[in-house]
Amino acid sequence: MNLQTHFDRTIEKDQRIEPRDWMPDAYRATLVRMIAQHAHSEIIGMQPEGNWITRAPSLRRKAILLAKVQDEAGHGLYLYSAAETLGADRDELVEKLIAGKQKYSSIFNYPTLTFADVGVIGWLVDGAAICNQVPLCRSSYGPYARAMIRICKEESFHQRQGYELLMTMMKGTEEQRRMVQDATNRWWWPSLMMFGPPDAESAHTERSMAWKIKRHTNDELRQKFVDMTVPQAEALGVTLPDPQLRWNAERGHYDFGEIDWAEFKRVISGNGPCNAQRLARRRAAHDNGAWVREAAAAHAAKRAERTVA
Ligand code: 3HC
Repeated sequence: MNLQTHFDRTIEKDQRIEPRDWMPDAYRATLVRMIAQHAHSEIIGMQPEGNWITRAPSLRRKAILLAKVQDEAGHGLYLYSAAETLGADRDELVEKLIAGKQKYSSIFNYPTLTFADVGVIGWLVDGAAICNQVPLCRSSYGPYARAMIRICKEESFHQRQGYELLMTMMKGTEEQRRMVQDATNRWWWPSLMMFGPPDAESAHTERSMAWKIKRHTNDELRQKFVDMTVPQAEALGVTLPDPQLRWNAERGHYDFGEIDWAEFKRVISGNGPCNAQRLARRRAAHDNGAWVREAAAAHAAKRAERTVA
């Protein structure tokens, strides 16, 4: 059996492709692109919430937020390791991010204006991430699927802490309730954009589905997220900013309004509210960390010399 047939059979039988297996170059390239951008998203995603660590309203909230932001760092490093199993070079991937040659999730290009944003990010952004990432636990590429299992467990803690934070604020003052509604208004539509362009305009979905890298299309996961979130908003007592949102008994799903795809295109091409700031911070962190990388490399070289001598 030739290599392509063996690869196709493995995918057909829902079995895993492992790093040592032969794979089409295009399969490898798709995975490097997707996993690298996922890793970049986790690392850049530390900035919006990190912005509130020093200003958390209590020690408990600070400890929870610290743990969450540290988790995101770990997810990023875990995913860079998954990309390395495909032969990608971590330093090159970071350079591509900093040079704007690789993407990260659009959602992290919006500002976090109040502490309610920390709760809404946990509720909506991590909630959307769970919708998008749980199916990836069944992705055909072994290392990615296995990384997703651990990451999804931690994402569910992220979502729950955000929702609990908002529940607390909704039981607080009128001003706190207004902060939660304001944050929900600002993060709802960008959360729907996280799932990517409409299927009809998605350049990669068809092939990613054929290779069982993606298990659902962008629109299917977006719909699942809306259906899951509407009852949560009702329980919280906030209004989702979409006058067209209504249950469609015939479809068995919520109908919702048109997403502003022009905004989505602006943000993913680098012209969102915080793109420049996010990349500048990442570039500065990389430059300021050069001495650590040099020291680690010098230490590793000395140890290698010692073991040879
Ligand atoms: N932000 C930025 N770029 C996006 C995007 C978004 N929300 N949605 C799509 N794009 C880009 C794609 O990367 C692609 O551009 P490229 O060819 O330069 O890579 C282009 O728009 C066309 O989109 P497609 O739908 O054809 O691309 P994909 O098939 O790759 O689907 C995706 C996009 C759904 C994001 C998919 O890549 C995916 O599921 N990735 C893995 C999960 C992931 O990265 N999630 C990011 C969320 S951040 C996060 O989870 C952190 C958590 O802590 C909150």
